[in-house]
Amino acid sequence: MGGAVAPPRQQTGGAAQRRLKGNGSGPTRAGHAQTEGYTGSVVLRSLSQLNLRNLRTPQIELGTGVVALVGRNASGKSNVMAAAYLACTGELPAGTIAETVRFGESEGFVAAELEHADGISRIEVGLAPGRKQLRLDGQSVRVADIARVSSAVLITPEDAELVHGSPARRRVYLDALLSKLSARYAALLREYQRVLEQRNALLRGGASAAGLEVWTERFVVLGNEIDALRRRALRRLSELTAGTYAEVAGDDKILGVELRHHRAACELGEALALARAEERARALTPVGPHRDDLALTLDGHSVQAYGSRGEARTVALALRVAEYRLLEEKHDEAPVLLVDDFTAELDAGRRAFLLDLTARTPQALVSGTEPPPSCDRLLTIADGVVAHA
Ligand SMILES: Nc1ncnc2c1ncn2[C@@H]1O[C@H](COP(=O)(O)OP(=O)(O)OP(=O)(O)O)[C@@H](O)[C@H]1O
Ligand SMILES: [Mg+2]
Repeated sequence: MGGAVAPPRQQTGGAAQRRLKGNGSGPTRAGHAQTEGYTGSVVLRSLSQLNLRNLRTPQIELGTGVVALVGRNASGKSNVMAAAYLACTGELPAGTIAETVRFGESEGFVAAELEHADGISRIEVGLAPGRKQLRLDGQSVRVADIARVSSAVLITPEDAELVHGSPARRRVYLDALLSKLSARYAALLREYQRVLEQRNALLRGGASAAGLEVWTERFVVLGNEIDALRRRALRRLSELTAGTYAEVAGDDKILGVELRHHRAACELGEALALARAEERARALTPVGPHRDDLALTLDGHSVQAYGSRGEARTVALALRVAEYRLLEEKHDEAPVLLVDDFTAELDAGRRAFLLDLTARTPQALVSGTEPPPSCDRLLTIADGVVAHA
């Protein structure tokens, strides 16, 4: 066992200048005393874990600025990144609970000690078969409660799936982001999914049109509200992604991000009526926000169909940077930035953008098989054991 890594360096105040926006003094929320030396960002001070994938260091101390995590392939870098994301947000970035718990164990645990606008908090996540238990400062909470005090954005090579993966992959991105930005969106989405399940169960049971009617009405109302909120958010999201794409790619192509409806070009209620025969035959609801997609285009051409691998990676990066900026705008507080494998599939220009982004961020944890050109703290990892270099 590698033991705990050395404690974080004393904060010198330099991190305040790293803020990407704001006056550097950090936001103060009414009625809350601010932590001394608060940097205007969420800061992951330490990450603890037990039985998480191949990780074997019980507690990793982190500081502000760029924290580099360097190790060979399969050493556990992505596992640390996933553990950090889980501890900061209460959400698994990928995979299932069973895959996340160490081979041969039935339960796992991860915890974060975080500094944020309202002080210091401890987030604990317990993983057991089919069950995830979240605690915030000792109280049982839900993901939405954690999102009020903490946020993190994870950038990984797998983000290329945002472009090349199925529409479901892009819907998850959009719904997860909008749910973090708006409690109303999260509540609408939950109710929409409940109504959709109910409606589908009735279709499977062969319910009559009259039997479906009340659920159909509610489905259309909720679907239209979700659609309207998505459209509104996409205006800002597409502005941000286009700006990042132009900055990173350094070419003249214009990135477009738009909502693409999976239905006839008409209002949701009418589209549902037109699809009646199909929904009877398939016993499911074939149109609605649960089928819609994000259309990603460069100069009007689909990136999925025509984009190069590098372009797809840059588009995915632009979506993640937009996520970072939107969360920062919402909380007036910079999220923790987690960049897994900064060298992966990026050319020199794109890599330079990513490193510059991490350098301007109050706290970024950056992994790679080699260290970045500069960092504030260097950690190494070998066979799941993290050490201070
Ligand atoms: N549930 C688990 N229990 C134990 N070990 C696991 C578990 N899940 C994955 N691993 C192991 O973790 C290791 C991979 O870790 P990880 O993906 O974090 O490596 P990495 O350092 O990111 O590698 P690369 O540089 O190739 O991306 C593999 O050896 C894998 O077998
Ligand atoms: Mg990896």
